[in-house]
Amino acid sequence: MSSRQLGGLVLPGLRAGDTPATTIPATSVSGLSAYHKVHFGIDEYGRPLQVELASRSLLAGGLSRSGKSGFISNGVGHMSQCTDARIILIDGKIVELILWKETADFFVGPDPVLANHVLFTLQEEMNRRYEWLTHRRRRKVVKGDGMDLITVWIDELSVFTTVYGTRDTQERFLSLLMDLVQRGPAAGIVVVAATQRPSAEIVPTRVRDVFSYRVAFRCSTQASSDIILGTGWADLGYDASKIPTNRPGVGYCLAEEGRPFRFRSVYLEDDEIDTLVARSLSIRGPQLAGAA
Ligand SMILES: Nc1ncnc2c1ncn2[C@@H]1O[C@H](COP(=O)(O)OP(=O)(O)O)[C@@H](O)[C@H]1O
Ligand SMILES: [Mg+2]
Repeated sequence: MSSRQLGGLVLPGLRAGDTPATTIPATSVSGLSAYHKVHFGIDEYGRPLQVELASRSLLAGGLSRSGKSGFISNGVGHMSQCTDARIILIDGKIVELILWKETADFFVGPDPVLANHVLFTLQEEMNRRYEWLTHRRRRKVVKGDGMDLITVWIDELSVFTTVYGTRDTQERFLSLLMDLVQRGPAAGIVVVAATQRPSAEIVPTRVRDVFSYRVAFRCSTQASSDIILGTGWADLGYDASKIPTNRPGVGYCLAEEGRPFRFRSVYLEDDEIDTLVARSLSIRGPQLAGAA
């Protein structure tokens, strides 16, 4: 399917007029659910770093080759084994997430118009889900509602906010992104985005601030580390510019509350990704993958 044939795009999940059953538990052949916590690595004490993605969006930042794409792959890997997950990949570099393409409902490369179209479609789906919730006097989608968790993985965010497209497409991308990050989690739509420098030009503060989870991989300066985690953490010792160069995948993770903690991300080699993709295809079947 060509990227331009997306007019008839129907994202899985709720469609207009659908009445999803309220109590269908998702069958998860692998034993994993998209609504389960996602294992991303281990902390300094060897405890697992497990993130509840179902209710929050995550922003990761760090220098080139600091481990951002590897981190994203771990999350996509989890979702690829779940029959109640939908995977949307938006990859400014194409090569980073391409190995997962067959598991995705959409794969968007550095094509700002297509990226905006996919985000807009997600926004419509989110609005339908909000209507569904409102009718039932509910405030959020939970596992067991029979609705897939839609996970949106954006690598090299800056490509869509500053590098490609016009000022208009970039602004549109940012406002769609902000709406999805803010209102998406309650509707079972979560965004995980990664960028080299989440400075104000690349990710305006108003957008950056709505991501509840922050992950800082190695940064060039204390100021960049603070941009990702929040002002003041570097002075307290949570400074990602102190992570050595030879430690890709080591970073600081901060949830909304609490303080950052240092962790090391799991790293999936290409052949391991191939195994997971093959397994995903056998569990979930091939997904509709639009490619830029
Ligand atoms: N958790 C990790 N453990 C070990 N090596 C890693 C880890 N994460 C990344 N690497 C190594 O670092 C390289 C760059 O990682 P990558 O995730 O592509 O960085 P980025 O997306 O930040 O540019 C990878 O090709 C891999 O060799
Ligand atoms: Mg990368």
